[in-house]
Amino acid sequence: MDVASGNAGQLQAWDTGEGVFWAEEAVLFEECLQRYDDALLRAAGIRNGEQVLDLGCGTGSSTRAAGWLAGSGSALGVDLSAPMLKVATQRARATGVRNATFLQADAEVHAFEPAAYDVLISRTGCTFFANPVAAFTNLFRALRPGGRVALLVWQAPATNPWFTELTTALAVGRPLATPPPDAPSPFAFADPARVTTILTTAGFAEPQYQPLQEPMSWGPDLPTAERLALGILDWLIDPTTKPQALSNLRQVLHSHRSDSGVTFPSTTWLITTQKP
Ligand SMILES: C[S@@+](CC[C@H](N)C(=O)[O-])C[C@H]1O[C@@H](n2cnc3c(N)ncnc32)[C@H](O)[C@@H]1O
Repeated sequence: MDVASGNAGQLQAWDTGEGVFWAEEAVLFEECLQRYDDALLRAAGIRNGEQVLDLGCGTGSSTRAAGWLAGSGSALGVDLSAPMLKVATQRARATGVRNATFLQADAEVHAFEPAAYDVLISRTGCTFFANPVAAFTNLFRALRPGGRVALLVWQAPATNPWFTELTTALAVGRPLATPPPDAPSPFAFADPARVTTILTTAGFAEPQYQPLQEPMSWGPDLPTAERLALGILDWLIDPTTKPQALSNLRQVLHSHRSDSGVTFPSTTWLITTQKP
């Protein structure tokens, strides 16, 4: 597999440690953002017979939905993570979505067939590129003229209590380094001005931004939410303050418990554009 040198760290993260955990907890991670799925798919407007490319598809919930909507067409899920793609393939088979297929590739450099896709979608999988202009230029080539794009991305950390409250709880008073807004991270597409520059430089039309707010699910109960939170954020814990960190975490999760499980408010952008 060709991987851009700047994406080697992401390959390491998603293809091993964190990716293995995501694969093991596929059901929960797929449900985390389920409340956003309808809006993303509506914006993509997938029609029978279309070819869909799902960028950073993970365990493939959006690829399966796209495949179902594409009918006689197909959906290709692309991701860096072999363990997540293995689960994606199993889940597509288990749910009978035969036109959803999966490919391990770095979407920044993979040689996609030119002009082969009608629609590009991504559910929080497009913000980890070292060189997003190069990546979207490559994806631009893969879309046919008139091809549509619908991307779901996180708004800024400050508007996402699931991030601020959980990281603050685990850091136990230590100041947290905020990643630079242009570094690859879940929040790298939070600034519409920056994203517009990336997408228009790659050749796409001026994008539209729809702000969305939905509860983000962290599982049906407190032990599940704790497992999920520690699975992705335990690197924040300093061994000397671990008992306090765990106690803080439980307090935060408890304060977000409701009849529908453990949920946090969250905010995203639904970005749409097209290839002229
Ligand atoms: C936050 S996860 C989202 C997964 C999935 N879309 C979902 O909503 O559950 C981000 C995904 O982007 C993938 N990814 C990151 N950089 C990538 C790249 N350069 N090429 C392809 N996939 C990438 C990761 O492997 C990971 O599965």
